[in-house]
Amino acid sequence: MESKILYKMRKEYTPGPLTEDIMSASPFIQFDRWFEDAKKEEKQEANAMILSTSTPDGSPSSRVVLLKSFSGEGFVFFTNYNSRKGREISENPKGAILFFWPQAARQVRIEGILSKIDAKESDDYFLNRPAESRASAILSKQSQILNDKNQFDEAVKAISSHESLKRPDFWGGYILSPHYFEFWQGALSRSHDRFAYKSINGIWSVNRLYP
Ligand SMILES: Cc1cc2nc3c(=O)[nH]c(=O)nc-3n(C[C@H](O)[C@H](O)[C@H](O)COP(=O)(O)O)c2cc1C
Repeated sequence: MESKILYKMRKEYTPGPLTEDIMSASPFIQFDRWFEDAKKEEKQEANAMILSTSTPDGSPSSRVVLLKSFSGEGFVFFTNYNSRKGREISENPKGAILFFWPQAARQVRIEGILSKIDAKESDDYFLNRPAESRASAILSKQSQILNDKNQFDEAVKAISSHESLKRPDFWGGYILSPHYFEFWQGALSRSHDRFAYKSINGIWSVNRLYP
């Protein structure tokens, strides 16, 4: 295939400047403020985030998952524990999530440690999902080779009408407990604003970074 040159694909960002005095001392509160803005402004799902994991020898992999809750403890999403990401997390719990909110020219990077949430919390969320989503989670061997998609779809349809579809042990939530956040705000002429928060012994410090 011919190479496609994207040199001319550039956009100027024109939001207000981001200054230290308007950043919260808590990165969780700062995240909440930006998330509320994103919910109003973004055309895409504001809670879509890119989750990166890696193998113990450092081969990275990334995919989109949906943020389903957050608090001062961390950021929760749901998935199949036997999927590629699940296998990587079981061997190397270090992970990163990334939000890109293009309408606001904002990016948030968060790094931390991933762990499974309580079974009870996963049960509660599972029961909230529509029947077809529960059936799909039960029958999907996520990330393995699927030879017959029609058969899978039929099987999902067939069990969707069952009343009590319980959460299987191999499906549930993870929480990413952060030790690092970075808030990036695009600005004119690539003079972007970046603030990095680091936690040392539970105390957060914040610094501006070069763009
Ligand atoms: C918008 C969007 C939302 C998604 N949300 C989830 C999710 O919440 N959980 C999930 O397991 N996969 C979700 N996926 C699918 C994942 O990106 C990925 O294909 C799947 O989890 C398998 O990844 P793995 O093989 O790296 O484990 C989503 C994909 C997109 C594009």
